[in-house]
Order: sequence, then structure tokens, then C-alpha cells
Amino acid sequence: MDWFTAQILQWGRIHSRKNLPWQQQRSPYRVWVSEIMLQQTQVATVIKYFDRFIDLFPDVFSLHRASRDEVLSAWHGLGYYRRALNLHETATVIVRKHSGKFPQTISELCALPGIGRSTAGSILAAAWNTHAPILDANVRRVLSRFHGVNGPGLTKISDRKLWEIAESHTPQDFGRDYNQSIMDFGALWCTLAKPKCAQCPVNLNCIAYQNKQVAEFPTKKRTVSVRLTTIRACVVFDQHFDCLLRQRGSAGIYAQMWDTPELVGRVQLRSLLQRLELPTSDLEILDRVDECSYRISNQKISEKLTIAKYSVPSNKLGTPANTCWTPFSALNSKGLSVRTKKRIQLARTLVEPK
Ligand code: ADE
Repeated sequence: MDWFTAQILQWGRIHSRKNLPWQQQRSPYRVWVSEIMLQQTQVATVIKYFDRFIDLFPDVFSLHRASRDEVLSAWHGLGYYRRALNLHETATVIVRKHSGKFPQTISELCALPGIGRSTAGSILAAAWNTHAPILDANVRRVLSRFHGVNGPGLTKISDRKLWEIAESHTPQDFGRDYNQSIMDFGALWCTLAKPKCAQCPVNLNCIAYQNKQVAEFPTKKRTVSVRLTTIRACVVFDQHFDCLLRQRGSAGIYAQMWDTPELVGRVQLRSLLQRLELPTSDLEILDRVDECSYRISNQKISEKLTIAKYSVPSNKLGTPANTCWTPFSALNSKGLSVRTKKRIQLARTLVEPK
């Protein structure tokens, strides 16, 4: 074990997180669920969702048996919903192909939906204490600063080399403690802004620190330009506020989720209804009653809202392909995104008589 590794392990004995929910009653299933949740979400947020998810789906078999909408519904609020669909698909692969047992090699784990090399390493080390290097954003920052690579000047190295460095520090024993320690060290001490360099156990040999260039390592990725998108969202209610939902196609971050219909291009609401073979009578239309804007990754979205409210019940209207009428009280069970749920709630308050 090298000096850096020994220092990080020692730091971890004192400071690393040891009371996270998935570190208790540790099992490959709990570790896997937590690592997928942690992929794009901070520890503090994941803690709020983890136990509830496990209560609903205590093992890989119950997750496999659940419907996609049940899984999406348990994920509601965590964002990046593709992760929930991947979990669900992976549960099926594990039950069908691996008889319910988690594979224990990097290559088998990487073959599962939503698991890359770093997540595979995290799972192996956390679940079985295996020697398995990781290279998430926090670990990249620590290694980049300590070794003085991927900073300003001619220090750019390939991902393959950075993985070699990560591998060289990962000890044969203590794989679990080391991975947790270096992740936490990156998240809590060697942070992007205000790193605690004065108290850092490896500052003596940290190239970025010794050159007073910590803030310049690693160099920022070029910022992707923000795309402006306009969405004309449209909420359609029947007489009793049952809401028309349509299932999205298989592309994009909201793939296969239920959502409200959208008016694309210059299409007006009545033409959309005609296209869906829904009546264009017995309804009240509130065109562009609300407008809001928000960011989703590199998109700035400006959303305009149109509402249609039928004065007849949905069974008189018919159900177009890939859609369903959902009672207002059952919306929670459809695994909607936060944005969609808010839009429907707002639409109801806008049409309901005061
Ligand atoms: N990010 C990804 N995996 C993590 C873990 N096990 N602990 C803290 N942060 C993480």
C-alpha cells in the first residue's frame, strides 16, 4: 500500500461516512440501489428516498415483479428517471439470467443497464470488499490535484491513464474502506470550492497544492451552450378532472414515462384532439393560460400551458392509443415527473370554479 493510500485510509477512519442507510444491513441489492441513486444525486437527498424504496421493493425479486409505473412512482422527485427504468430492467436480468444473484465481476456488472465502470467498482467494493477501482467526479478531482494532471498547461492525460492511477492506489485489502474514504474525501475535503488544504493529510505531496494551483485542477470541462426550447404543454381533463396522459417514446431523459400531451410546431389544440380522435365539442379551452421557464441540464425550457376541460366523462370520449385517462387522485401512482405533476395541479386550479 502506498503513502497516499495509507493517508486516505487513515483520514477515512476518522472522517468517512459510516452511518449511511445502505451501509447498514449491507447486501448487494441495497448497495446496488444506493449506487444507482447516488449517480446524479447528492447523499443527503438519496437518504430521504432510500429506505422508502427498500420498503416498497425489499429485494431484487419484488423489484422485478413490480410494474414500471410503480417503480417510477417510488422514484418520483429523484429526477433522471432513466435510472429507475434501468434498475427495473436490471432486476429482470438478474432474476432471469443470474437466478437472482448479483454478478461479481466488473464486466458482468458493466453489461447491466445503467452501470458503468465506476459504478461497477463501487458496487463490488461496497458489497464484497473487493479490490475494485473507482473514478467518479470526486475521485477524479482528488487524483488530478494530487498528481498534478488534467490541469492547466501540458498536463492532460487520457482517461485510460487516470484509471491506471486510480488502480495503482486501490489497495488489495480494504477495497471497501478505501473507496468510501476517497469518495468522501473528495466530497467533504478536497471539494471543488473551498477545499480544506491546510488540514489535508496529503498536502505535502500534492502537486496542485505545492504549486498553489489547487483551484486550477482539474480544468473545467468546456461549458456546453444552453439550448432554448419552447414547449406547448397541454392538460386535458374530462368532466371529473380525470387527466389524459400519454406515454412517451423510448428516446430522451423521460423515455417511456407518462406525461401530458404536447402541441408540436404550429398545431392548435383542436387539431391535436382531432388527430387523437377525441371530440372537439363539449369542452372549454384555456389557451396559453400560463407560462414558466426552467432548466433541465443544458436546456432552458420555456413552457406555455393550454388546458382543455370536457364537460362529459372520459368513457364518452374514448381513449386514444398510448394514452390513458387517470383520475386526479391516482396521478401519484403513474410515476410522473415533478414537472408534469405540478403542471396538472396548476391546470386544475386554473379551471376549477373558485
Ligand atoms: N457517491 C457514489 N457512491 C457513494 C457512496 N457509497 N458514498 C458516498 N457518495 C457516493
